[in-house]
Amino acid sequence: MAKWVSWALIALLAVMAALVGGCGSGQPAGSGQPQKLTLYCGLMEDHMVKAIKQFEKETGIKVEAVRMSSGEILGRIQAEKNNPKASVWFGGPADGFIQAKEFGLLEKYVSPNAGKIPAQFKDAEGYWTGIYVGYLGFVSNQKLLGEKGVQAPQSWEDLLKPEFKGQVVMANPGSSGTAYTMLASIVQMMGEEKGLEYMKKLNGQIKTYPKSGTAPGRMVGQGEATVGITFLHDAIKYREEGMKDIVLSAPKEGTGYEIGAVAIIKGGPDQAAAKKFIDWCLTKQGQEIGQQAGSYQFLTNPEAAPPKQAAEIKDTKLINYNLDWAGKNRNALVEKWSNAIK
Ligand code: F6P
Repeated sequence: MAKWVSWALIALLAVMAALVGGCGSGQPAGSGQPQKLTLYCGLMEDHMVKAIKQFEKETGIKVEAVRMSSGEILGRIQAEKNNPKASVWFGGPADGFIQAKEFGLLEKYVSPNAGKIPAQFKDAEGYWTGIYVGYLGFVSNQKLLGEKGVQAPQSWEDLLKPEFKGQVVMANPGSSGTAYTMLASIVQMMGEEKGLEYMKKLNGQIKTYPKSGTAPGRMVGQGEATVGITFLHDAIKYREEGMKDIVLSAPKEGTGYEIGAVAIIKGGPDQAAAKKFIDWCLTKQGQEIGQQAGSYQFLTNPEAAPPKQAAEIKDTKLINYNLDWAGKNRNALVEKWSNAIK
């Protein structure tokens, strides 16, 4: 009898251990259901897929994700404010996150791993944390430049050259975080009045305003336009993928930059899984994974090895980009730009 009782006790302990173990491998205790998570993602699709696969493998949490540009994500979480469908906003310039924080759309979360991230790359109150940094610049098509007998642009003024009329592509600042970084940089450098005047002149040079900030690099690489405004790491990716005519340049007056961020959406489902995802994004492994998919941003975790491909742009002249101002004025500035180019 005593033997039977001790076997029963061992069996009971084994079941309990399995349940506790289940928590760490993506199963909420006692539910038997795998944990899940829904993300809105501002990164390129291939980077997003790699990151998700690795996170699923390490945690057992099942992830669903939708890729959108920053302005679209902001609009979506604003529209879903009373019934959030996703729990994490993964990637995209922090300006959008700052605007979302202002609108009360983000949940404060200071990850235990956030201590490693230097203060300039995260929100002081813990509403968003930076995971990468990208520099804005120009992408040109060498062949088309040659045909026009013109050099790749070296300044913002160069974009207004007659040779570039109808040949410049930038995304729409309303939908794209890349294009909004450009608009906010111009206004910070020139002041609001002169900056919007410049944007109006530039409008006369524009071929099209695509939705996504990565489109100009691709279009220029494919020979559909001569010059694009882009994050330089995206141009490096396209060149590496075979668009050999791509050349990079940056404005000599200086340029803006992004801090790509991650945050928890307020009131979203699966908050425990969301926290685990944020923790993972801040690790060395979580940050280094982008390079495997051709994402060559600089990284915010000092222990993570930056992609060697980013070395060619490390000396780009940057302005003292006022991120807080850019974030808080995002929607208002986009509206002013939209009126200015009418
Ligand atoms: O994933 C590439 C990338 O350039 C990121 O570095 C950036 O945060 C994001 O895309 C911006 O995308 P969009 O301009 O479409 O909002």
